[in-house]
Amino acid sequence: MEGSRIPRHVAVIMDGNGRWAKKRLLPRGAGHKAGMNRMIALSEHIFDRGVTFCTLYALSTENLSRPKEELDGLYALFREYFPRNTQTLKKKNITLKVIGDRALLPADVVRLICEGEALTAGGTRGTLLLAIGYGGRQDILSAVNAAVRQGREVGMEEFSAMLSTGDIPEPDLLIRTGGEVRLSNFLLWQSAYSELYFTDVLFPDFSDKELDRALEVYAGRERRFGKI
Ligand code: FPP
Repeated sequence: MEGSRIPRHVAVIMDGNGRWAKKRLLPRGAGHKAGMNRMIALSEHIFDRGVTFCTLYALSTENLSRPKEELDGLYALFREYFPRNTQTLKKKNITLKVIGDRALLPADVVRLICEGEALTAGGTRGTLLLAIGYGGRQDILSAVNAAVRQGREVGMEEFSAMLSTGDIPEPDLLIRTGGEVRLSNFLLWQSAYSELYFTDVLFPDFSDKELDRALEVYAGRERRFGKI
């Protein structure tokens, strides 16, 4: 791959599963299944490329208003794939962390999340963050409320550490698949200086090669963080 600058943290908005299925005259659930398989393969490839933190936007707070049938299908996929894949992460020495409002998720899904986090805790090769029931505004608001409860003003770094991403560095590269050009409430505070990469490729088609293309584009960007 051209360019040696590898982003430390890559965040991905995985969009386009439904349209991928529609194009093939398949039910939306088939798109999510294909997306799930791609998500697993991609998260292996991303760490092989030297990225240390990867955040995947699996389910937003807004996605939770989708029809019950679709959500049930997503949770069923999660139950089927998640335990097996946390074993893989453990073997690969990768820590799993789930961000988002767990009160919005079914109890058994939350239990699996806790087990997966406990199993992979302390993995030193990298950290995979899965955003489930996550909203950037909610993340900011709950940190604000925590500061208010403490009855004091907080500084920038302290505030960042109060977000659900804690002391994880901000994303260097934020990718959105599926053709929409917006952040949709993802990591709003944390992405202030992220390089943005939008592609029309639907998530199930976002191959390892497509990721390498995004990494190449990133390597060619000049980051100035507001300076000259
Ligand atoms: C976006 O495609 C994808 C999602 C909303 C779900 C992604 C989740 C997984 C792959 C599985 C993980 C499951 C859990 C519960 C963590 P879309 O449906 O918005 O596609 P469209 O814009 O083409 O309709």
